[in-house]
Amino acid sequence: MRKTFLLLSSFLFMGCIIATAQKESQTALNQFVVIANNPGPVISKDIYGHFSEHLGRCIYEGIWVGYDSKIPNTYGIRNDVLFALRELKIPNLRWPGGCFADTYHWKDGIGPQEKRASIVNTHWGGVTEDNSFGTHEFMKLTELLGCDAYINGNVGSGTVREMAEWVEYLTSGADSPMTRLRKENGREEPWKVKFFAIGNENWGCGGNMTAEYYTDVMRQFSTYLNNYGENRLYRVACGPSDFNVSWTETLMKDPASRSRFQGLSLHYYSLVDGWNNKGSATDFEERQWFQTMRANLQMDQIIKGHAAIMDRYDPQKIKGIVVDEWGNWFDVEPGTNPGFLYQQNTLRDALSAAIHLNIFNLHADRVKVANLAQTVNVLQSVILTEGDKMVMTPTYHVFRMFNVHHDSRLLQSDLKCEDYVYGERKIPSLSASASVDSEGRVHISLANLNPNKPIELVCPVIGETFSKVTGEVLTADAINAHNTFEASDKVKPAAFKGHTYKNGVLTVTLPAKSVVVLELTK
Ligand code: AHR
Repeated sequence: MRKTFLLLSSFLFMGCIIATAQKESQTALNQFVVIANNPGPVISKDIYGHFSEHLGRCIYEGIWVGYDSKIPNTYGIRNDVLFALRELKIPNLRWPGGCFADTYHWKDGIGPQEKRASIVNTHWGGVTEDNSFGTHEFMKLTELLGCDAYINGNVGSGTVREMAEWVEYLTSGADSPMTRLRKENGREEPWKVKFFAIGNENWGCGGNMTAEYYTDVMRQFSTYLNNYGENRLYRVACGPSDFNVSWTETLMKDPASRSRFQGLSLHYYSLVDGWNNKGSATDFEERQWFQTMRANLQMDQIIKGHAAIMDRYDPQKIKGIVVDEWGNWFDVEPGTNPGFLYQQNTLRDALSAAIHLNIFNLHADRVKVANLAQTVNVLQSVILTEGDKMVMTPTYHVFRMFNVHHDSRLLQSDLKCEDYVYGERKIPSLSASASVDSEGRVHISLANLNPNKPIELVCPVIGETFSKVTGEVLTADAINAHNTFEASDKVKPAAFKGHTYKNGVLTVTLPAKSVVVLELTK
């Protein structure tokens, strides 16, 4: 009797909250409804992954300074970058490329450093690569970061045997020539490798293959990528870029082909006016801001297009989309090597990161891994370095603010918002997603894309009540505000106070051009 009464009263109470929430929000122009008591798929922490290629100053200088460097380091890895990346709780790191991966021969990068073969990095600036950062150094880096390794194998110019032996060298505990070699090089125990990619952009820099040819090659390579001991490889097949759905169709349609991989990669870079007019990373106006956001939002359509094909062949969503290269691609900083892809990072990039991460969260049922391009000093980096100096970019701060979503469960939500109009074009003003973590805390991540006006957002949070709401905001005065080695704190998060929470309805005033993350605690 008492139980029935309690149930009934809780039902009435809940009904009352929903009714009140809906009533209060009926007239709102901008509304984000969150259903807090019916969690959906897990937002894999791996969609917050990063990517470090042997490209420009990403690995060398950015991460690896060598044992004898004056820059404080741990096993040759610079401490400042290590600590900053640890703060981000980076879940996985992809290496060694990118296009570099299909030119990389892993045996050049093991053994005593002074004896390692040098090669020319033909894709990136034609510089000499001395292979001082190789397998052992990378695996040490992942250990120090506490993250999973995502290794990209060489299909384009490598052999099946070479790739198979790399996996054996890395992960086998049995006695074999490869494991003896590993032990000679100082590593007794096998490592754990979670993700392994079978080539990179094999439709382009990874061998210019057709989808049909690559599918056959992938099947062959994959056959010899063994799971040793407890290690279970999540094999990533080279997928499409942008809207190339026919590549996805070819990889997915045949059960014998799709049984050979767990994830299918997807690459998409946001460009302001195409590859020939990428524009400056810092010197831009509202038109370029708008175009960037517009390009970023396309990620949603791109995922939907590929996911629709995957749904036909894999309705249970067992195969993951692995967006292992994404981000803004601008012109290199004036005076820097064009092959090094070094670009600054502004508030615009922060908004771009928030847009992408919200999109990935909302596609948590299919997107299982994603990697921002790239970690340090290349493209949309989270960190920039110059000599012994280091600076965290606005993109870094967004990743830190959003890490509350790692392995949380996506909450069903519905966003209605006004348009952000520029000239003849319009895009939604807001980006949003919500999740609930294992402690029952709800996190809502929001971005106001409009640089000209604050926006009031009414957010009924249905099904649960909360006693405390806290938040953080990232914004700045100018659209191109950025951190430099001289002024490293120009763009940084601050406590957010622009919200109220009453009768189950959160009302948030989002400053113009801002990213806000809120935490609701019971
Ligand atoms: O991230 C830079 C390059 O972009 C990668 O090497 C390649 O995979 C992509 O085209």
